[in-house]
Amino acid sequence: MTNNIIKYQSLINGELYENGNWISVINPTTNKIAGQVPALTKVEIKKVYESAKFAQKNWEQMPILKRISFLNSWKQLIIRDKLILAELMTNEIAKGTKAAYSEIDRTVEYIEYTLQEALRLHPESYTGDSWGSMNKLAVFEYVPKGIVLAISPFNYPINLSVSKIFPALVTGNSVVFKPATQGSLVGLHLAKLAKEANIPNGVFNAISGKGSEIGDSLVENEAINVISFTGSAVVGNRISQKSLKADLILELGGKDPAIVLNDADLEDTATKIIKGAFSYSGQRCTAIKRVLVQRTISSKLIPILKEKVEKLTVGLPTDNCDITPVIDQSTVDNAKKLIKDALDKGANCLVGNKFKENLMWPTIITDVTTKMNLAWEEPFAPLLPIIIFDEVKEAINIANDSQYGLQASVFTTNINSAMSIAKLLEVGSVNINDQSQRGPDHFSFVGVKDSGLGVQGIRPSLLAFTRPKGIVINWKTKI
Ligand code: NAP
Ligand code: G3H
Repeated sequence: MTNNIIKYQSLINGELYENGNWISVINPTTNKIAGQVPALTKVEIKKVYESAKFAQKNWEQMPILKRISFLNSWKQLIIRDKLILAELMTNEIAKGTKAAYSEIDRTVEYIEYTLQEALRLHPESYTGDSWGSMNKLAVFEYVPKGIVLAISPFNYPINLSVSKIFPALVTGNSVVFKPATQGSLVGLHLAKLAKEANIPNGVFNAISGKGSEIGDSLVENEAINVISFTGSAVVGNRISQKSLKADLILELGGKDPAIVLNDADLEDTATKIIKGAFSYSGQRCTAIKRVLVQRTISSKLIPILKEKVEKLTVGLPTDNCDITPVIDQSTVDNAKKLIKDALDKGANCLVGNKFKENLMWPTIITDVTTKMNLAWEEPFAPLLPIIIFDEVKEAINIANDSQYGLQASVFTTNINSAMSIAKLLEVGSVNINDQSQRGPDHFSFVGVKDSGLGVQGIRPSLLAFTRPKGIVINWKTKI
């Protein structure tokens, strides 16, 4: 600590590291400095990959139970530091204290499940029963791919970091981790705990620096075998252009629709829509980002939504308000732009459209049409458009016309309608009678179109960070 500003160090080859150049992480609630992290240079990043490559060989050779034991020690320290981590989250990303605790609890369960599931990654064996190959027996074990570059977004600084780091490490990879700048205090605290847990030097490295400045040199390195990225579609697309030989796992943005049919249970539907759209102030990739409601029930659903949204509390994360300041001013500016475009083109504001610095009151815009940008763009803010449709086919077309394909919800009491619609939606997952959501974390998490590439989860992540390697025994028949 210097001048009461918390400073965290990067972790390179087992050493906590600073170079004298600091980036300030801004608290979205106070607009003051929440802490500082080092701004690493291209030369330093190159050294990180060299140490990760060197360390990976021994780590891979270590028995899995020993790797698990190291990772369990790290997990225990995360549990020990729950209050510190939650406070950092509140300061640097304005997440409510309770929500921050819940993210940490969820992450601890993620780790426990991952470490158990890793033990079930048994080799597959084959007999050479075809193509004249009777005298062969093959064993294909899951071996690590090598070096994993893990880049996480700001909104779940623990969960979306750990869900890349732990499955990569337990399967014998080394990791180069780059947290979002807004989220890097938590990220580098995790790194400090990795050192305390004696994770062997170079196996886990944590880099800090602005993605816009060091992103390309992070990604353009031939040593990387897998890039696991969560963040915006724009950055995800850039990474896929810049990466050299790495496998890509990309979890990107979304514009998840909630389709509400005329036979839906309206009270339950409205409760789930409000939770889905406004939790963590709408800053979730899986947030409900548009409601498509059938005309016959729209005049009943909309007042219930209004009533519920007016009950949301707006204010400080430390007061556990439902709506807290969004991450930065540009997010506010973007939301205002989307609202203005919609209102100029004939939409109406049902509730909200009120701002105080980074704090945006939960806003619902009705009479939105497909001609408005709000029907298609992701605000990542507490802003929900409502679009009315007549025929179910129309709703399916609007849902599928999006550049995104993360998740969708269908609200109806008719399972036949729900299943028929679910089959036609071009998304990773469809939630019947619930909000879109990633968890529980062992479910496969997939985005199609501009929402991503590859699969995350627990077993899917373990598989994504490994490849099958075969050893084939050949023999001559002697008897
Ligand atoms: P972002 O701006 O794309 O940043 C994500 C990460 O990429 C950060 O660590 C960022 O570092 C880094 N980065 C920035 N430019 C880079 C570059 N040129 N090369 C390599 N890395 C670079 O996203 P965000 O604002 O943190 O998160 C919001 C977006 O993420 C939304 O679109 C949301 O839907 C999406 N998201 C998706 C999921 C999912 O699972 N599908 C989950 C969460 C969020 P800096 O912070 O230093 O810029
Ligand atoms: O922001 C993106 C996260 O992957 C969403 O996770 O559905 O559990 O909020 P969640």
